[in-house]
Amino acid sequence: MRYLVDCEIVSNSEVASEQYRMVLEAPDLAREARAGQFCMLQVADGLYPFLRRPMCFERIFGERISILYKVEGEGTRLMSRMREGQAIGVQGPLGNGFPIDSSFKRHIIVAGGIGVATFPGLAEALIRACGAIPEVILAARSRHLILCGEEFRALGCTVHVATDDGSAGVKAYASQMLQKLSPAPGTRVYACGPMIMMRTTSEVAVAAGADCLVSLEAQMACGDGACLGCVVASKHEVEGEKMVRVCVDGPVFDTTLIDWEAHNTAYDR
Ligand SMILES: Cc1cc2nc3c(=O)[nH]c(=O)nc-3n(C[C@H](O)[C@H](O)[C@H](O)COP(=O)(O)OP(=O)(O)OC[C@H]3O[C@@H](n4cnc5c(N)ncnc54)[C@H](O)[C@@H]3O)c2cc1C
Ligand code: FES
Repeated sequence: MRYLVDCEIVSNSEVASEQYRMVLEAPDLAREARAGQFCMLQVADGLYPFLRRPMCFERIFGERISILYKVEGEGTRLMSRMREGQAIGVQGPLGNGFPIDSSFKRHIIVAGGIGVATFPGLAEALIRACGAIPEVILAARSRHLILCGEEFRALGCTVHVATDDGSAGVKAYASQMLQKLSPAPGTRVYACGPMIMMRTTSEVAVAAGADCLVSLEAQMACGDGACLGCVVASKHEVEGEKMVRVCVDGPVFDTTLIDWEAHNTAYDR
């Protein structure tokens, strides 16, 4: 069931430079939503920005959901100025979410920058559903962009930090850190972040015989499968087309379905 509801903002605070966490009172959404799904937020009362902005559920807890977001442009800047007690229009839950499969022996989450936003809820779901405590790689350009380390540690996860500049954890890219953890058949890797990071992480996982799911981003208009604004190229035909819609077929995909070559990811890592 999908909703279009006005939700009260419980809090909206800056957690790092230009990165915020918004908590919403959203009983209907919280009841229906699963880790890896997302919602579309009405960020303005007027006509600009017109389109709702897609955001993952960071956590789903009780009658509330949280959203972790980075200020990118006008829509997210308006979000960052919203205050406790205000209402925001929310459409969701949307998309497929992460499958939870207890047959995997090992679960490794690989987060690049704000891509971490979809993973606290996944870690909680894995622990709740199959008692599997995931290992977590948090990768970012620099120390100040590493988020959620304490939250994952509080869940019992081992957290591996990697930064491009070496200012925190190991100086390495996400894919190199994954290689160090030696994924193998029976491991499921979950990746979200910039396209190049997901591509290289997927390559390490697949080469090791591990299963790999990626949570993709695309610019969205309808969020409902109608406008085709969010399509990405796929390797195999899905419903007669070599493309998939991130909003309804995803955002979570098996990496082997995605045609990474077609996405012009600067292949320099
Ligand atoms: C399924 C899904 C879940 C998402 N979850 C989160 C989340 O949990 N936290 C978070 O911070 N962000 C998330 N995003 C990205 C977020 O939706 C965009 O950053 C946001 O819409 C930008 O809006 P804006 O008005 O601030 O910026 P705009 O002015 O619209 O854009 C600013 C810049 O960001 C680029 N951009 C805009 N939207 C996207 C996008 N979807 N993907 C890549 N680049 C984009 C634009 O090309 C432009 O360069 C998600 C996107 C999708 C598709
Ligand atoms: S956003 Fe319209 S089809 Fe996906």
